[in-house]
Parts: sequence; C-alpha cells; structure tokens
Amino acid sequence: MEQIIVGVTFDEPDGEPEIENQDMQILETSRLILREFRRDDADALACVLSDPETMRFYPAPLDQAGVEQWIERNLRRYADHGHGLWAMVLKSTGDMIGDCGLTFQNVDGVNELEIGYHVRRDLWGQGLATEAARACRDYGFSRLSAERIISLIRPENVPSRRVAEKNGMKIWKESMLKDLPYLVYCIRREDTLTR
Ligand SMILES: CC(C)(COP(=O)(O)OP(=O)(O)OC[C@H]1O[C@@H](n2cnc3c(N)ncnc32)[C@H](O)[C@@H]1OP(=O)(O)O)[C@@H](O)C(=O)NCCC(=O)NCCS
Repeated sequence: MEQIIVGVTFDEPDGEPEIENQDMQILETSRLILREFRRDDADALACVLSDPETMRFYPAPLDQAGVEQWIERNLRRYADHGHGLWAMVLKSTGDMIGDCGLTFQNVDGVNELEIGYHVRRDLWGQGLATEAARACRDYGFSRLSAERIISLIRPENVPSRRVAEKNGMKIWKESMLKDLPYLVYCIRREDTLTR
C-alpha cells in the first residue's frame, strides 16, 4: 500500500519517506498523474501541440521553439503562482500525453483562474480530459481557495465545451480575447456544495 504526497513516496510500514524522483507531482486520478512540466518533456509535448488537428482553434500548431517557450512559460507560472498547466501522464504507460492545469487569464479586466487542457489526439474520447479537469477544479477550490473557476472556449470547439459541461460548468458570458469571440464557462464554489 502506497500513499503518494506531492512527489514523495511513503512505503508502509516503516513510513520512511523516499524521494521517488525529481518530479513535482501535483494530482493523481484513477488513470492520470498531473505533475509539473520539465524541459525534457518538449518532444512528447510536441506530439500534442504541434498537431494541426489538435491546434485547429489556435492561430497555428507550435513549432519546436514554440513548445519550448510554452514549457518555459509554465515553469515561470509555477514559480510565480505555484500553479500552471501541468503535464498529464498516463499511469498505464508512463507516457506524457497532454496538459491540464490552472492559469490566470485576464477576462474583461479581471484575473480569472482558468482550467485548460490538451490531449494527444490518438487518446481523445476516453474521458481523460474530463478526469483531469475535475481534479483541477477540486484543487482550485480546495487548495487555491478560488471563488469561481472558468474555462475559455471558442464556440466552435464542441469537444472542449463538453469537457467543461462534464466538469459542472455553465456558460457565464461571452468575451473577446485577442479579437476572437470566446464562451466563458464558469463554476462557482457554491455550485460545488449543491452537487
Ligand atoms: C478538448 C479535448 C482536450 C478533449 O479531450 P478528451 O480526452 O477527448 O475529452 P473527453 O473524452 O473527456 O470528452 C470529450 C467530449 O467531446 C465529445 N466530442 C469529441 N469529439 C467531438 C466532436 N467532433 N464533436 C462533438 N463532440 C465531440 C466526446 O463525445 C466527449 O463528450 P461526451 O462524453 O458527451 O461523449 C481534446 O479534444 C483536445 O485536446 N482538443 C484540442 C485542444 C483544445 O481544443 N483544448 C481546449 C482548448 S479550450
């Protein structure tokens, strides 16, 4: 029986903590580990963020430099805020298959906590984004004391809208970001008390 607490593994019964590795594990779900990104995730992350179909709601797929900058941006977020987009690792294979996490986004002049997600295309439709997003939602309310959490989604992005809905979110409002229309999905702390 093993209990994992943020990157440190306790093997019962002696209870002596062993540092498992240098990974900063944040969350665990039944099929996934969410941990902080490392610079050596770039190749695996490129399989996600350089895929044109995955990035069809973005200006363009990311090239290698774009993927590396994306990781750097998240390393900075961990340092500045203690959270960001985290690496999604499939427990059954150990593969890094996407990202999910919590970032601040400026919406109509207010810094909102947002859940974002990307999953490697060959694994779509298995509920993995929903599983990760729910864990991030619970983390945002319990560990970050958020009053509300949003997801910013282009109206045409039906799969992402479904993930937000399965995460208990509803459309709050519409907003323009970088000259593009977005739906602002939202769940409030009080909504979680009545679920
Ligand atoms: C959005 C994304 C993360 C979802 O990942 P996933 O692991 O496949 O998500 P889930 O399996 O938890 O749920 C996907 C839902 O979308 C639905 N869906 C998938 N493809 C669809 C399509 N073409 N049209 C309509 N619904 C679709 C699935 O049926 C499922 O809903 P359901 O449970 O009601 O059937 C994934 O599609 C992705 O990486 N997209 C590109 C990146 C992106 O757009 N990220 C979000 C930015 S806001």
